[in-house]
Amino acid sequence: MFEFEIQATSGRARTATFHTPRGSVTTPMFMPVGTQGTVKGISPQELLDVGSQMILGNTYHLMLRPGEELVRQHGGLPGFTAYPGPFLTDSGGFQVMSLGHMRTIKEEGVTFRNHLDGSLVYLTPERSIQVQEALGADVIMAFDECPPHPASPEYVKNSLERTIRWLDRCLQVKSREDQALFAIVQGGVYENLRLQSLEATLPFQTPGFAIGGLAVGESKEEMYPMVDFTARHLPTHKPRYLMGVGHPEDLVAAIGLGVDMFDCVYPTRTGRFGYGLTDQGRINLNKASMKTDLRPVDDTCDCYCCQHYTRAYLAHLMRAEEMLGPRMLSLHNLRYLHRLVEKARVAIEQNVYTEWATEWGKVYFGGAL
Ligand code: GUN
Ligand code: ZN
Repeated sequence: MFEFEIQATSGRARTATFHTPRGSVTTPMFMPVGTQGTVKGISPQELLDVGSQMILGNTYHLMLRPGEELVRQHGGLPGFTAYPGPFLTDSGGFQVMSLGHMRTIKEEGVTFRNHLDGSLVYLTPERSIQVQEALGADVIMAFDECPPHPASPEYVKNSLERTIRWLDRCLQVKSREDQALFAIVQGGVYENLRLQSLEATLPFQTPGFAIGGLAVGESKEEMYPMVDFTARHLPTHKPRYLMGVGHPEDLVAAIGLGVDMFDCVYPTRTGRFGYGLTDQGRINLNKASMKTDLRPVDDTCDCYCCQHYTRAYLAHLMRAEEMLGPRMLSLHNLRYLHRLVEKARVAIEQNVYTEWATEWGKVYFGGAL
């Protein structure tokens, strides 16, 4: 279980099969975000149809509502949500930082006000693992702190050292053999602190490693070197997961640096706002010119939305505030990212990744939109 079998490499990019209890997935892979136990507006069958392989769920949201015990009573997230494939749950650390009010971080754990009813909640490494065991995902994440950006080197150093002690506590209490716990490398935008985090995290020999603390407001000029540096130091034969990253150009760049797994709300969130992803860039269905555009969102796409609907129809749905509009654009955008990583996999198999990525970038950034 949790074996990571590399099938092909091209430069530092790789394609692999990752075996989990609920099925094997092929990397590079993009994971749709199902924060509340649902990828907003998209049914499990539709997720399978667009090529989703593993769905992300959130400890923070599900422990507050409906509570992890109810999910456990359904046999975990697959029973609760009816998505039959593999899941990954995030540990809650990141969401406490981004959503919790009046949070206090101490060695023992984090106290914060529940964003739903203002009540005081306590989250510790032990509690995060307890919740994640009840949610029953195939891959669970260590409880970490993702420092805000910008943060001083002193702050990031203290934080990453605590995150390592928290990793140790997570592994102490973890009891299920059928869940893989991934450690998270932190260190902000500081190479020396990334190295410190790596040196302390790698000896735990977890079955996979995540690169955390990025895509939190830093520039791409700051983010890419950190992905590059961190990925170089991670073991070859284990999955590498870049957390919270999902813009098309970031996927293409990070796959080239040896990253295997991604998640982001971007495709579904931007879809709900009326945007469609294409190889020529992102199109805005709210624009006046879309009202009479008889083309599909993407004439190369095989998704239900592109096979059935014109941009004009989707523009009409957005203006009329009909829910099918956000739903169809979310569906297309997920298909777009899944097809993008499928194309990346083919380029890796043919050992032409850099050439493919360069050509893709020319079209994407030169896009005539
Ligand atoms: N999601 C995006 N970034 C992070 C991170 O650094 N830690 C966790 N737990 N989740 C994330
Ligand atoms: Zn489509």
